[in-house]
Amino acid sequence: MCGIVGAAASRDVVPFLVDGLKRLEYRGYDSAGIAVVAGEDVRRVRRTGRVSELEAAAAAEGLHAPLGIGHTRWATHGGVTESNAHPHISVGELALVHNGIIENHEQQRQRLQALGYAFESQTDTEVVAHLIHHYRAQGASLLGALQRAVKELHGAYALAVIDRRDPGVLVAARMGCPLLVGLGEGENFVASDVSAIVSATRRVIYLEEGDTAQVTRDAVQVYDAGDAPVVREVHVSDVSLASLELGPYRHFMQKEIHEQPRALGDTLEGIVDAGGFDPALFGKDAAEVLADVESVQILACGTSYYAGLVARYWIEAIAGLPCAVDIASEYRYRPVAATARQLVVTISQSGETLDTLEALKYAGSLGLVRTLAICNVPESAIPRASRLVFYTRAGAEIGVASTKAFTTQLVALFALTCVLARLRGRIDAAQEAAYLDELRHLPGSVQHALNLEPQIALWAEQFAPRQHALFLGRGMHYPIALEGALKLKEISYIHAEGYPAGELKHGPLALVDEQMPVVVIAPNDALLEKVKSNIQEVRARGGQMYVFADADSHFGPSEQVQVIRTPRHVGTLSPIVHAIPVQLLAYHVALARGTDVDKPRNLAKSVTVE
Ligand code: AGP
Repeated sequence: MCGIVGAAASRDVVPFLVDGLKRLEYRGYDSAGIAVVAGEDVRRVRRTGRVSELEAAAAAEGLHAPLGIGHTRWATHGGVTESNAHPHISVGELALVHNGIIENHEQQRQRLQALGYAFESQTDTEVVAHLIHHYRAQGASLLGALQRAVKELHGAYALAVIDRRDPGVLVAARMGCPLLVGLGEGENFVASDVSAIVSATRRVIYLEEGDTAQVTRDAVQVYDAGDAPVVREVHVSDVSLASLELGPYRHFMQKEIHEQPRALGDTLEGIVDAGGFDPALFGKDAAEVLADVESVQILACGTSYYAGLVARYWIEAIAGLPCAVDIASEYRYRPVAATARQLVVTISQSGETLDTLEALKYAGSLGLVRTLAICNVPESAIPRASRLVFYTRAGAEIGVASTKAFTTQLVALFALTCVLARLRGRIDAAQEAAYLDELRHLPGSVQHALNLEPQIALWAEQFAPRQHALFLGRGMHYPIALEGALKLKEISYIHAEGYPAGELKHGPLALVDEQMPVVVIAPNDALLEKVKSNIQEVRARGGQMYVFADADSHFGPSEQVQVIRTPRHVGTLSPIVHAIPVQLLAYHVALARGTDVDKPRNLAKSVTVE
């Protein structure tokens, strides 16, 4: 959702801010703006729509300055208008950008109005600008005013502020929303996401909850929640500029689908290097935390939730542990019968999804302290709030539709299953070696599935004019049917539903006619014959079947039934391989329909609000 970038330098930072905002576009936004301190003035440009429009406006207005802040906004409080776009300016003196939500903005607004402040927007953010201005007017420094103001805010924020009276100073604060400081050569930065500043530096300090910071071009000083100066660790981010570029691809989603053999290989590296399913893969004290676990509770949203649904089959079958999987936004509001020795696993590509973070906190409030995060973004909020962490190594995922994050999450969850199984004596060394071997072959099998792209693109032409589609799967491939339906609806806007194939005659069969394409995931596993019967049920009602069948299943095409042969059945890891064709199908249908593949309407990459 919203994104922040700021810079203090000796060069003109406007091109850098615009470039940073472009790199934040993937998160989803509906307006953007930048403000700079130029000479003795604060100047600002804001636009609804794309950053490219903002760029043109900034050029037209001749905006140049060595200090500035920029923002992409995804509207929550107040509509998509220029006056609601950030930065917000108080009394022509200070400009501020904000990610998050200020819950007590109404009370603050009334108080500040009584003090004479005039409001120009309907946002919750504008109160923060005036509050800081108010404390400056009482004699506080810019940093001091920020530190006083944030203590009166309830809610979540990442803030960056500049003031025309302090031409070289940028101040920042973080609570509940990510914010980092970038350390450059003779210039320093703030950003909500490392991708915004990676063209200048990969050396970053992740601010902690309650931290504030003063950033000039020569110095950075961080303060803790008690306003005491503090030294925070400097990290070198492994996000590269190349990973943020499209290269030869048309869309990031296409690039990310094709990166999966590499992403899986990188994620597997630690596991294979460890020579087995060592609990230490999940953190230093993982052996102790996982040793006496009696059940597993998985919490996640969207695609990450579907990864959890696949994992349930593995955890129950291989580790022999009861496993529940909940949508985070449901779990966080329901009375839960918590059992003490339960492992709570959160899955999140971004590590920022508010519902997942809040569900994790709720689990903590119930006394569930064995927590593990599976995440793709280092130092993001969810892993920071968890005792154990596994970082998938998918690399930056820019397309809103999650692809490589999903398959690497599945690898992490499979490794977790095997660690739990080993700790419980459910697998012996030979079985462990066999699973490791399956993992080693996984990138190759995924590459085979990617090679199906030309055939899938032909199917996509037939899908493109449709309004609805059904996806069917059974057992651990049922979540892949759900994922296929989500991918299709998300980027092509075709209404799609995923169903366990056995549920067909309990309702969805009524939808089937010659206009309804039905995609079937048909791996060569113990349920294949059942799936074949389900296919006959659809065929008898005139439905058009599109079957992804393993090469060794001898599943042939027939009237109304088209078949694409996926690689030979890979056993337990089969859902990972079967995820690839449904991703490709969604991508090519979206392409044929001409939608905005990487930035589908109404969606954001990181969902940091409820
Ligand atoms: C997937 O294609 C989606 N864009 C979405 O469902 C996503 O998986 C969900 O919002 C969860 O995000 P997270 O993994 O970053 O927590």
